[in-house]
Amino acid sequence: MNPVEIAVNGRKVSASTEPRTHLADFLRDTLNLTGTHLGCEHGVCGACTLLLDDMPVRSCITYAAACDGSRVTTMLVRPGSGRRSDSKVLRPITTGLFKVIAFKRC
Ligand code: FES
Repeated sequence: MNPVEIAVNGRKVSASTEPRTHLADFLRDTLNLTGTHLGCEHGVCGACTLLLDDMPVRSCITYAAACDGSRVTTMLVRPGSGRRSDSKVLRPITTGLFKVIAFKRC
């Protein structure tokens, strides 16, 4: 197990994870942050996209242990809230998410 400390949507969290656990699974299963969704789990569809230190990454192919000390911004922050995912990269995605598919269970 590897200790991982990351800031998720501006809040620091720490947990231990297996070296091969992907970031999406770490967020969903370990931290119970289910806003990040999985589709193909092969890095193709983009459903799991989030920001890692302000750069878009596919969390299904990113190891959580490699993210130690990083900032992660997920889709869970509502557009217009002034928080980090209000970035130019995620804003169109989050706006569409809340307009079109906000009924989706998290
Ligand atoms: S789940 Fe499809 S790219 Fe990650």
